[in-house]
Amino acid sequence: MSSEPLTEPQLAALQQQATAAAQNAYAPYSHFRVGAALLLSNGQTITGCNVENASYRLTTCAEQNAIAAAVTQYGPRIRIAAVVVTTLNDVACAPCGACRQTIQEFATPTTRIYFPGPNQTTTHLTIAELLPAAFLAESFLS
Ligand code: THU
Repeated sequence: MSSEPLTEPQLAALQQQATAAAQNAYAPYSHFRVGAALLLSNGQTITGCNVENASYRLTTCAEQNAIAAAVTQYGPRIRIAAVVVTTLNDVACAPCGACRQTIQEFATPTTRIYFPGPNQTTTHLTIAELLPAAFLAESFLS
């Protein structure tokens, strides 16, 4: 279980895993190679990379693919403690809007997203900061 911000060694390890996943990105159109590493509340980690398509809108993001892999591997009750998103393009990648909503689906109130940029700078924000006034299932489920 982890509701505290990541420690430096945890962040470094997840960053390395995300970067390894980014090496496998399929990004022949944008050449923007993204990797995501999740720390789950069960202590497990899992990664994903972006997979593009000639029909551009079918592209899936690294975060979404990591979450799909996590559900596949650990089941529907997973919770995400932390997400680290890296790129091989020497820029920070804040999760896109769709990925924020996908993270929200499996988030806790303390889920934190880290996106390292150039020069050893890492921005980190909670999901509530990244996606304020989120659309929640509670809106329509009684
Ligand atoms: N991308 C991600 O993998 N995650 C994001 O949060 C933002 C965008 C990918 C999708 C596409 O393959 C490439 O980056 C350029 O948009």
